[in-house]
Amino acid sequence: MTVPTFPPGFLWGASASAFQTEGAFDTDGKGLSGWDAFAAQPGRIKDGTDTTRGTGFHERYREDVALLAGLGADAFRFSISWPRVVPGGSGSLNPAGLDFYDRLVDELCAHGITPAPTLYHWDTPLPLDEAGGWLNRDTAYRFAEYAGMVAERLADRVPMWITINEPAEVTMLGYALGEHAPGRTLLFDALPAAHHQLLAHGLAVRALRAAGAGNIGIALSHSPVWTAGDTDEDRTGAELYDTLTNWLFADPVLTGRYPDEGFAALMPGPVEDDLKIISAPLDWYGVNYYNPTLVGAPRPEALDSFSGYSMPSGLPFGIREIEGYDTTDFGWPVVPQGLAETLGQLRDRFGDRLPPVYITENGCAVDEPVADGRRIAFLEGHLEALRTAIDAGVDVRGYFTWSLTDNVEWTEGASKRFGLVHIDYETLRRTPKESYAWYRDVIRAQRTGG
Ligand code: NOJ
Repeated sequence: MTVPTFPPGFLWGASASAFQTEGAFDTDGKGLSGWDAFAAQPGRIKDGTDTTRGTGFHERYREDVALLAGLGADAFRFSISWPRVVPGGSGSLNPAGLDFYDRLVDELCAHGITPAPTLYHWDTPLPLDEAGGWLNRDTAYRFAEYAGMVAERLADRVPMWITINEPAEVTMLGYALGEHAPGRTLLFDALPAAHHQLLAHGLAVRALRAAGAGNIGIALSHSPVWTAGDTDEDRTGAELYDTLTNWLFADPVLTGRYPDEGFAALMPGPVEDDLKIISAPLDWYGVNYYNPTLVGAPRPEALDSFSGYSMPSGLPFGIREIEGYDTTDFGWPVVPQGLAETLGQLRDRFGDRLPPVYITENGCAVDEPVADGRRIAFLEGHLEALRTAIDAGVDVRGYFTWSLTDNVEWTEGASKRFGLVHIDYETLRRTPKESYAWYRDVIRAQRTGG
């Protein structure tokens, strides 16, 4: 298989996030995040990885920028650690914390690489988590303040912004199921955490624009939901899951409405007014895609562990194993056409309301230290599917693979490796894998027209 040609100006990038890479968890006045506290609880990180070191990115960012330059990447999607910039979660800014991102942005610009920061990639300042985190409406206002302060400093050099990353996962894993920080097990009572993250997004869009930042998007996870079985109960279960994970987030952002009145009624505060803020026009829309999900009626044989995360019994849907596909080392099915399917769904559902799309994440966990042919096959298949979606009329402007280097995969620790570059966690030495050379050649071929 060879990689198809993409439209001129298509942006080629790689993604990462602060908690997963930076380490330096208390350097230069950084405050603790909810994730720092959660990861320190015994047994939370399955393989016992010391998450406080990350990949040493805070120290070694120049090395990683050089690796991006070696790839010929156009852009780097990283995240800004909120507690590094505002250690208390509200109030004064920590200049030394923000200086780090200033240096990183300068280093990227010096190499001709577009900095594309995400303002929230799950690391809430601990004091805010202790005050209820995203269950507390105030967190949304604190986030917008922080977003404005970052933009005041960086908007002159940052041409592309991402407000928040995967609020669906934060809601589901962090607040409904207790598998991620802050470890709440509220099931459907977690829904206010979704609303407040969406409000935070909308308020941040305003704050960013007020501070002179433009080209603003959001990174939402999308997984096409396949219906298991053909009973009405199967369809109801699959639809509910689809609504909860895909449209509960995309609809408010792109249309200013919740997917159904029932959900709107469960949300706190002046929901109609909030939806006007949440649907502030965006310049682009980010899609994180990994795999489809097979869902039907609740059944005893449904998975009680999904994507490595445990699900309680008694939920109004049942997640099943997708069979007949290769799987990554996370056990996730490799279904490239799911990417085209998801993009087609977005086009059909939102029509002209869908702004230009960027794939803000796509990649796989493969434990092959350097000869990672399975990652190359994965990426090749997904780029092919992406080209199919573009041919079918979806306006996709760029692709960020997850991830530049191996990094801390949340509660999985260091044992799930998503990088184009291998990290030796003892020495923090970086070694490009075969997929790194492959991606470099893909990018080069696009520029030279083959
Ligand atoms: C989505 C998250 O944004 C990212 O942090 C994570 O590492 C990847 N998925 C892989 O699970």
